[in-house]
Amino acid sequence: MPSPSIPSLTGRRVLIVGPALAALAQGPLAGAVLEQTGLERLIGIGRGDADLILIDADAFPPPSLAAGVQALTLAQNPPPVLVVGAHLPAAVARNLLRLDRSDILDAPYGADALVAAIEGLLAQPEPAAAAPPQAHDVARCWAVTGAVGGSGASTIAVEIATQLCSRQTKEKSVCLIDLNLADGSASAYLGATASLRLGELAAAADKLDPAMLQAFVTPVTKQLDLLAAPRDPAAFETVGREAILRLLECACESYDWVVLDMPRHRRNWSLEALGGCDEVLVVSELTVPALLAARSLSDEIERDLGNGRKPRILLNRVASRMFGPAPSTAEAERALQRKAEAGISSDWEAAAASVNLGGPISTHRPKSKIVKDIQALVERLASEAQTAKVA
Ligand SMILES: Nc1ncnc2c1ncn2[C@@H]1O[C@H](COP(=O)(O)OP(=O)(O)OP(=O)(O)O)[C@@H](O)[C@H]1O
Ligand SMILES: [Mg+2]
Repeated sequence: MPSPSIPSLTGRRVLIVGPALAALAQGPLAGAVLEQTGLERLIGIGRGDADLILIDADAFPPPSLAAGVQALTLAQNPPPVLVVGAHLPAAVARNLLRLDRSDILDAPYGADALVAAIEGLLAQPEPAAAAPPQAHDVARCWAVTGAVGGSGASTIAVEIATQLCSRQTKEKSVCLIDLNLADGSASAYLGATASLRLGELAAAADKLDPAMLQAFVTPVTKQLDLLAAPRDPAAFETVGREAILRLLECACESYDWVVLDMPRHRRNWSLEALGGCDEVLVVSELTVPALLAARSLSDEIERDLGNGRKPRILLNRVASRMFGPAPSTAEAERALQRKAEAGISSDWEAAAASVNLGGPISTHRPKSKIVKDIQALVERLASEAQTAKVA
């Protein structure tokens, strides 16, 4: 008996996601213009890209499938979507429900059931176009970078982002971006999952917009979002300069505050990223090599940015001088040949509690001197930013 086909699909574009679905070209999808593709094609897809999307849920690992369907929920006016499969994860089903036109077909299914599901979807009216997104003031952006490895840049970036959140009432107002793409620690320090999939970011770079950016963020608290990539030794080769700069641009359009945890070694996008920042904070510890490195790094950044902006130096792990031969702040400033912006107290117990429990120091040890020092720093820099904005 011949398989039923769908006359209303003749000449219309159908995206088939999953290799096994190609066989439908001889049956229910005969006459349609088929594009066989992977889940990454779903990022930023719009009404004009296809008349129907058919996804084989069993062809992909659940996290990839969930990310693909989440991308559809972020698209403006996506085409109707039919997901077929035997084991549909709950997260995928929930996201599908958020789409205006979607359906699920349990495998195994017959050709008639498939035809009925597709015809049902095609018969649904197209939803009215959504209102265009509201223009957003561009974010204030602060970058944090370490003078030497382990100086505390990520710890300070996490605490700064958290302090900025405590000054906001609006949801999703702060974004922390870990640009140590290969082995960043911000996600681990926050106890959050890193969901910036760099391969997908690279593929979507030229169409990335603030709505699509949301497919890559990890919400950490009501106010704080994180953009951080899972550990991957090839990360810096996976994603190019344009994609990173576009990511930063979209983040600055989407949030009030953006905090960058910058890699110490310069990449081909580092200067542009720093050039777009309102503050560049160089973190040093109180050792002679770190102070000399902080001085050189600040000079290099100032010289190469060439916009008159001077990095500010933060002295981290400042301890009382009762023990050990660490330089005093005055001695440190002599080595730096400039004033330090602030000192952050040493508190190993609080820092360890934070990284081991997952979450900022201000959550696990709110009374730590680290929290007080960073709070004072953020208040000072944010009020300077406010004054500059008003002037
Ligand atoms: N003020 C502080 N007091 C005590 N411990 C601290 C302080 N700041 C950071 N630490 C600890 O120092 C270690 C290194 O910190 P962190 O990972 O933030 O440094 P980093 O500069 O980001 O390192 P990397 O070069 O690997 O990116 C961590 O164990 C952290 O908990
Ligand atoms: Mg770090």
